[in-house]
Amino acid sequence: MNARLTQSGWRVIPLPHSGLDITNQDDVRDAVELFRPDVVINCVATADVDRCEIDRDWAFAVNASGPRFLARACREFGADIVHVSTDYVFDGSKEGFYTQEDEPKPLSVYGAAKLAGEFAVREEAERFYVVRTSWLFGVGGKNFGSRIIEYARRGANLKGVIDQTSIPTYAPDLAGRIEQIIRLRAHGLYQVTSSGPTTWFDFARRALDLAGFGELQIVPVKREDLNQRAPRPHNTAMRCLVSEKLGLEPLRHWSDALIDFVRDITEKSM
Ligand SMILES: NC(=O)c1ccc[n+]([C@@H]2O[C@H](COP(=O)([O-])OP(=O)(O)OC[C@H]3O[C@@H](n4cnc5c(N)ncnc54)[C@H](OP(=O)(O)O)[C@@H]3O)[C@@H](O)[C@H]2O)c1
Repeated sequence: MNARLTQSGWRVIPLPHSGLDITNQDDVRDAVELFRPDVVINCVATADVDRCEIDRDWAFAVNASGPRFLARACREFGADIVHVSTDYVFDGSKEGFYTQEDEPKPLSVYGAAKLAGEFAVREEAERFYVVRTSWLFGVGGKNFGSRIIEYARRGANLKGVIDQTSIPTYAPDLAGRIEQIIRLRAHGLYQVTSSGPTTWFDFARRALDLAGFGELQIVPVKREDLNQRAPRPHNTAMRCLVSEKLGLEPLRHWSDALIDFVRDITEKSM
């Protein structure tokens, strides 16, 4: 996000966790008062879905109260807020694509806390962009894309889930779309993903083939075989009615973005 916006000429003030804890209301207010930003982009979350299940207070503090404090401060100091949210607000039982008209029904504490965060932002902020996305991958973070390459390099056993569907979304493409939306000043609830639903298994297979690990096997598994604490929604592919109405082109297919990702992650390791 930072790189993309800086490249486009924005003055970005990144605030890492060590510089601001968004669960502290006074610190959040002080930070917004100090910097007086035009736009606050909230990428903070506790995205450890299984840990959220056993630490509900922490999940709600970071994913719901924190966004509330940010949105409140944005209203007070006249800033717009972009709040990144998730496909896990849906229960995954729908066939086909979820739109903004579908009722969110989270299965997990993480999903419930993120949904509460969305409502808090919509309630507190004067001007907001809530941007749901799914299955983020990109260089630099701890995500499925970077992990699969890292595990392959280490020669670890690889497993890929075959019974969960969504859309892997390339973080730099999401950042570009967020910038576009901010420039349009079209406030509202968005669902921004790359194109093309798939499974983790197929995503991993394609990533390994592109990265030169075509000979490595991936064991196909079902979600339930992994004994994870938090339930995951079966299908959360989304489309965005607001973007369609605004005439915004769909983001490119995840498999095209994956080519850039694999090139960049390979260059980074050289
Ligand atoms: N990853 C996905 O597949 C996915 C899918 C859909 C939606 N999303 C959404 O996309 C956004 C980014 O997710 P991500 O996966 O990139 O998350 P991430 O890598 O875990 O990054 C979250 C960031 O939030 C920071 N943070 C945590 N608690 C904080 C606090 N109390 N105050 C300030 N900063 C804090 C973390 O810092 P530390 O690491 O130092 O604690 C980390 O830098 C989130 O809103 C998430 O819900 C992610």
